[in-house]
Amino acid sequence: MLKKIDHIGIAVRDLDAAVQKYSALFRKPADHLEEIAAQKVSVAMFRAGESSVELLQGTADDSPISRFVEKNGEGIHHICYAVADLNAALAAAEEAGMSPIPQENDRGAGGYRIAFLHPKTTGGVLIELVEK
Ligand code: CO
Repeated sequence: MLKKIDHIGIAVRDLDAAVQKYSALFRKPADHLEEIAAQKVSVAMFRAGESSVELLQGTADDSPISRFVEKNGEGIHHICYAVADLNAALAAAEEAGMSPIPQENDRGAGGYRIAFLHPKTTGGVLIELVEK
C-alpha cells in the first residue's frame, strides 16, 4: 500500500539560502524547483536515493508553511509516503483512525495528487500521501 518514503518536507524561512546549503551538502543543484500557487509554497527537491528532501518556503503570510515557521521555527514539517492508489490509502488511513485534512486543491509538487493526514490523529506527525 505505502510504497516508500517519497520525501521529507522541511520548512525553511529562506529557500534560496537553504538551496545553497543543501546544494553544498549534496554536491549537486536541486533536482526540481517549483512554486505551487494553490498551496502558497515554493519548493526545492533534492533526491537522495529512493527518497527526496523537500525544502518548503511559504509565499504568503497565511501560507501553512509561513505559519508553521512562525510558530515552530524552521524544521521537519511532514513525512510523505508514495502510494499506488490515493483513495485506497485514504480509506486505510481512516480505518487506522487517521483523518485527512480537508483541502481545496489536491495537487502537489509535480502535479501529483496528494492528501494530508492530521497530526492530531497520527501521533503528532503531519503525513502526506502522494499518488505516484
Ligand atoms: Co511534501
